[in-house]
Amino acid sequence: MTVIPLASGHRPVSPIHVAIIMDGNGRWARARGLPRTAGHRRGAEAARIAVETAMRIGVQYLTLFAFSSENWKRPESEVSDLMGLLRHYLRSEIGRFHDGGVRLKVIGDRSRLSPDIVTLISAGEERTAGNQKLTLTIALNYGGRAEIAIAARHIALDVAAGLLRADEVDERLIASRLETTGIPDPDLLIRTSGEQRISNFLIWQLAYTELVFLDLLWPDFSRKDFEAAIREYEGRNRRYGAVQDPVIVS
Ligand code: IPE
Ligand code: IPE
Ligand code: MG
Repeated sequence: MTVIPLASGHRPVSPIHVAIIMDGNGRWARARGLPRTAGHRRGAEAARIAVETAMRIGVQYLTLFAFSSENWKRPESEVSDLMGLLRHYLRSEIGRFHDGGVRLKVIGDRSRLSPDIVTLISAGEERTAGNQKLTLTIALNYGGRAEIAIAARHIALDVAAGLLRADEVDERLIASRLETTGIPDPDLLIRTSGEQRISNFLIWQLAYTELVFLDLLWPDFSRKDFEAAIREYEGRNRRYGAVQDPVIVS
């Protein structure tokens, strides 16, 4: 008797939610003898293409890691260039997002961002709130551990105030207190630049996400690369801890 694992029963359909760690702008620039900012500028263009591609493919949620809570450790000039680019990106793209049916959402700690950027974000979120084609989440001054710590603090306060019982604290409740509440966990995570790490991105939400690491730098990430990553995902076998269904051939 031969037992053949049947992978097809578990083959995922197209991903509903794709998350991307857009990495490698600095190396892209260095390889060309350009300042790091030039890499970030090209990176912003690659992000625009990724949003368009997600819409064309029919991805419903796209989450982009734009600035981590650890990125403040970079030289002040680079941080201010990144913030300038972000300001420019939000100003130029929000109208286009809105026309295309994109709902914008920003996660991360806004308290360290400059007030005009915070205003741009809130206005963009408000303006696009009713759109349904694609939910674009931009992670900005975001850290996964900080997100979980804040949720834990709020839950503790609710328990202390008698609004919640300790035995009501379960995975569903914690997920509902994260900034991503209402958004399904990512099916696919793509990281460019060849680094194979999560760098404190969505650490709760990525528990069962399929990871695809690409050996190319973010400014070079094209529509074709996005489509190839989706195909790679579609060939994966998601088991969530269970066994594959075996086919028994006698
Ligand atoms: C990603 O590219 C952009 C941000 C983290 C803001 P990097 O700037 O990290 O590029 P490398 O990793 O130094 O090449
Ligand atoms: C992760 O990239 C953050 C973003 C892409 C915004 P980093 O370049 O900051 O990550 P490390 O330092 O290589 O882990
Ligand atoms: Mg990097």
